[in-house]
Amino acid sequence: MDHAAEAQRTDLMTITRHVLNEQSKHPESRGDFSILLNHIVLGCKFVCSAVNKLFQAGLAKLIGLAGEITNVQGEQQKKLDVLSNQVFVKALVSSGRTCILVSEEDEEATFVEPSKRGRYIVVFDPLDGSSNIDCGVSIGTIFGIYVVKNKDDPTLEDVLQPGKYMLAAGYCMYGSSCTLVLSTGSGVNGFTLDPSLGEFMLTHPDIKIPKKGKIYSVNEGNAKNWDDVTSKYVENCKFPKDGSSPKSLRYIGSSMVADVHRTLLYGGIFMYPADKKTPNGKLRLLYEVFPMSYLMEQAGGEAFTGKQRALDLVPKKIHERSPVFLGSSDDVQEIKALYAAAAAAAE
Ligand code: AHG
Ligand code: MN
Ligand code: MN
Repeated sequence: MDHAAEAQRTDLMTITRHVLNEQSKHPESRGDFSILLNHIVLGCKFVCSAVNKLFQAGLAKLIGLAGEITNVQGEQQKKLDVLSNQVFVKALVSSGRTCILVSEEDEEATFVEPSKRGRYIVVFDPLDGSSNIDCGVSIGTIFGIYVVKNKDDPTLEDVLQPGKYMLAAGYCMYGSSCTLVLSTGSGVNGFTLDPSLGEFMLTHPDIKIPKKGKIYSVNEGNAKNWDDVTSKYVENCKFPKDGSSPKSLRYIGSSMVADVHRTLLYGGIFMYPADKKTPNGKLRLLYEVFPMSYLMEQAGGEAFTGKQRALDLVPKKIHERSPVFLGSSDDVQEIKALYAAAAAAAE
């Protein structure tokens, strides 16, 4: 190994060190963000360890449904959803840096009691893809972070902000490795958990999504109910009219984290469009669409709802849903152009 490579190998860039480096560029920062992030990382490590125990020990069959519990969208929750949610809520409250929490699993937003309050709002999906637990497919946690206007008087209005005002967003994927992808507003970095150190190490510095990809990712089982534009776009992916090769279809499905992670690294487009049965699509704006759209833009990609830039949407309710098309900018531009042409033709 040459000298430079050896120097890099022994210069351990953990996620904590990376965030502290970023913060040192802002002399006014008081280290609150790194404390908050450390608590998010702790939650991720816990879920990763729980998932691994289940996968490795072949104990997945012991994870049944958690009694009669259903979440606010009326979907059945698995035990690990409940557990992950509790771990994240407790970790975030005990960080002393949060004031409002919005979780997919809790109907109401949690307002942190004044003695433990800080200035950050965290919106999160503690376990995305939970229907995949029993078959060992990658699952994940998604989170977004905002700053409250007035820490002494946090209101729901503080949460209902467009995604473009997020301070940071990320996800952690529990798969063949445990990977945490984070943006604090200046690019995207990926960290992989080194189980022997118990630390997330910088393994994917400054991730940039390819400008154009060769993959499209969508639940084609919903095609019967799609609008004409989505149908036409997917048709173009399979039978391109410009002489280019057809795109490949990859859809892990009930794990958006895994589909978005692949899209970020390899390029292409991930979509969960509106359809006649679900006019707002399926994915939740605050803790699925916004964080993933933020990461895409920070990596040089785009995210579009079918009508506008995803990050410009102003949420009206904390569990609101939105259609989304996200990924490589050339691919998202193509569907944008189809929607624009359809709107022009309808006038
Ligand atoms: P969750 O497990 O948190 O409810 O989210 C599942 C979501 C998302 O991760 C994925 O992209 C989508 O469901 C897949 O939906 P379909 O099964 O309808 O394709
Ligand atoms: Mn989800
Ligand atoms: Mn979930």
